Amino acid sequence: MTPATGASPLAGRRVLLIVGGGIAAVKAPDLVRRLRERGAAVRCVLTRAGHEFTTPLALSSLSEDRVFTDLFDLTDESEMGHIQLSRQADIVLVAPATANLMGRMAAGLAPDLAATLLLATDKPVMIAPAMNVRMWLHPATQRNLALLRGDGVLVAGPNEGSMACGEFGPGRMAEPLEIVAALEAHFGAEPQSRPLQGLRALVTSGPTHEPIDPVRYIANRSSGKQGHAIAASLAAAGAEVVLVSGPTAQPDPAGVQVVRIETARQMLAACQAALPADIAICAAAVADWRVATEAGEKLKKENGAGPPSLSFAENPDILATLSGMSQGRPGLVVGFAAETEKVIEHAIAKRRRKGCDWIVANDVSPATGTFGGDNNSVTLISDGEPESWPPLSKAEVATRLVQRIAARMGSGGQGA
Ligand code: C5P
Repeated sequence: MTPATGASPLAGRRVLLIVGGGIAAVKAPDLVRRLRERGAAVRCVLTRAGHEFTTPLALSSLSEDRVFTDLFDLTDESEMGHIQLSRQADIVLVAPATANLMGRMAAGLAPDLAATLLLATDKPVMIAPAMNVRMWLHPATQRNLALLRGDGVLVAGPNEGSMACGEFGPGRMAEPLEIVAALEAHFGAEPQSRPLQGLRALVTSGPTHEPIDPVRYIANRSSGKQGHAIAASLAAAGAEVVLVSGPTAQPDPAGVQVVRIETARQMLAACQAALPADIAICAAAVADWRVATEAGEKLKKENGAGPPSLSFAENPDILATLSGMSQGRPGLVVGFAAETEKVIEHAIAKRRRKGCDWIVANDVSPATGTFGGDNNSVTLISDGEPESWPPLSKAEVATRLVQRIAARMGSGGQGA
């Protein structure tokens, strides 16, 4: 087993990993391996249902520790043993967290070893939900999720994607490395892993919805994946982050204050309310126009007048507004440029026009699959030569961008 990588905030931490039942439990051994690589001690608890998908032997070999299971331990451990087990850890991680397990946690029920430990612990708890998309979206699960968040439970994922059951949507367990990153963000109190400690960051993400009438709106295809990943990376680097987000299916990043809005004007107001900020990153796909006069009642086709003609008014440009502030301008303002052709040329012009310090240019022509996808090919436009990065996941783009921001802020660079 590779020892601690030194820099990881997980080095020397004790993780109690509860492996619930679900196909995502097959990723549990890899999760144990990743945690151990970073120097964490991992002790596993395997639920009865979890046995169907992974084995105590796989988990004990990788964790180099005994694995606790419902099948034996409830009978051969004293109640005190369970309590100690849940308190000897620095964090309790539930991965995968099934709908059933979340329900038991939210209700405070303790019919088995895993639920007993979760009820008995006085340590932070993080869950990585994994379930069918309908189960995830069911009001009961969302209600339980809200209750658990209210209880201070940390949540990593789930991701959106195709599922083992053949459906598509949110409910896939976060990847082991994403769970590791969420744990590192939680434990990352060491100054070297939190280069943005003490700084405030504002991030916009997702689309805006511009109403036509009470039931219809104009929107775009932004998934919010890139903006949310940036907010998560800034928080992991120690910044105090406000994420102003249009409607998206993305889970709230751990440790980030999320302000939900619908329209561009609401987004601008929320951004202004979040100031002052040291860093502003505008990753939202803001609608350029809104319908000039929103109808108070639903537009009807029965009145015989044919299709309505809509007239448009220009929305405020949030990036340009923040960049142009004469007082209290964030020290570093970063915009995005989604282009389908002449990407770098257009992005350089956009940087000048908007007055921001950096532009992250990305090619969103349909062939790239950037919109809604997990990967991104970007070029960073700053004062120097345009810098093209290799194709990366959106999480990796976020990490790299935050490293660049940390270097810039660390060198005393404030703005253009
Ligand atoms: O002008 P365009 O929409 O291509 O510019 C993209 C950049 O400007 C992105 O950073 C986006 O978040 C920002 N933007 C904004 N407010 C608008 C339009 C775009 O902040 N109304």
